[in-house]
Amino acid sequence: MTREIVASAPGKVNLHLGVGEARTDGYHDLVSVFHAVDRREVVRLLYDGTPVAGPAVESMRTTFFVDEPDEDIDGPNNLAWRAVEAVVARAGVAVPRVRIEVDKHVFVAGGMAGGSADAAAALVASNALVAEFGEALPEEELLEIAASLGADVPFSLMGGTALGTGRGDKLVEMLSRGRLHWVFINPKIGINTGGAFALLDDLRHGNPALLPHMDATELSQALTSGDVARVAAALHNDLEAPALSMRPVLKRVLGVAGEAGRRAIVSGSGPTVAVLCDDADDARFAAEHLAERFDGYEVFVAEGPDHGAQVERVI
Ligand code: C5P
Repeated sequence: MTREIVASAPGKVNLHLGVGEARTDGYHDLVSVFHAVDRREVVRLLYDGTPVAGPAVESMRTTFFVDEPDEDIDGPNNLAWRAVEAVVARAGVAVPRVRIEVDKHVFVAGGMAGGSADAAAALVASNALVAEFGEALPEEELLEIAASLGADVPFSLMGGTALGTGRGDKLVEMLSRGRLHWVFINPKIGINTGGAFALLDDLRHGNPALLPHMDATELSQALTSGDVARVAAALHNDLEAPALSMRPVLKRVLGVAGEAGRRAIVSGSGPTVAVLCDDADDARFAAEHLAERFDGYEVFVAEGPDHGAQVERVI
């Protein structure tokens, strides 16, 4: 009988993204306010054999509920694949070989940490797998593996709303009142995260006005007040400049989207545009309008904060 472990993890938008100087390890220090939304990736681990030593993953298949990228992403370099191998190796437990299935609901290379969400869901799923055949890893070890896979993966594990410092992987939960209602628009022109950070460094050489925004105090107070207008006014993203420079069409998308909701910003490194709306009805209305206006772009509504990666079912 085929057994199955199903887990999910949220996409995210950065409510604040302050990017400091480049560090010697190729990363940048951040002051980031991550906010998880209820657009979730689903990862299934399927297995029917007996435990064996050696690599845990047999194959991987992604089903796209968003636009499919040109290149095949189902290989050993995929973060979900690497996450499963890392957990099984660290736990030192023999498990049956698994097939990974990913249902992709978060845009690929969109600035919403979809790949990190796949990794986070795969981490909790493989820890549940390990628990079936031995002892599961403690939370701290999962977090360590998460940080080694990518700077956004620890937040995908944690979810909610959180202040991230360091590479964005040192996290503290933040207080917030009420729900935030969003529309997300993907202009289908993926941006490479590393490329966006590197371009920001270049742009800063020529433009000293592009200062790092390392203070999220106003946003933090706005979140605890629960006042959407105040949250909207406090949203900020240092990576917006490179995103606009790489994809000039985003200027128009931001303009139109900002009119449709309270405020539009680039999500993470982009190109996804996140539109904060007053409530769920406004978000639905704005989404319909934007889908008509930008024929061919992908548009969906989501709300946050949403919970982090979790196992949904063990069958
Ligand atoms: O950690 P992750 O693989 O998601 O990061 C992708 C790239 O984004 C890194 O290789 C780095 O170039 C850039 N990055 C950065 N500073 C961060 C996070 C990411 O420069 N804090």
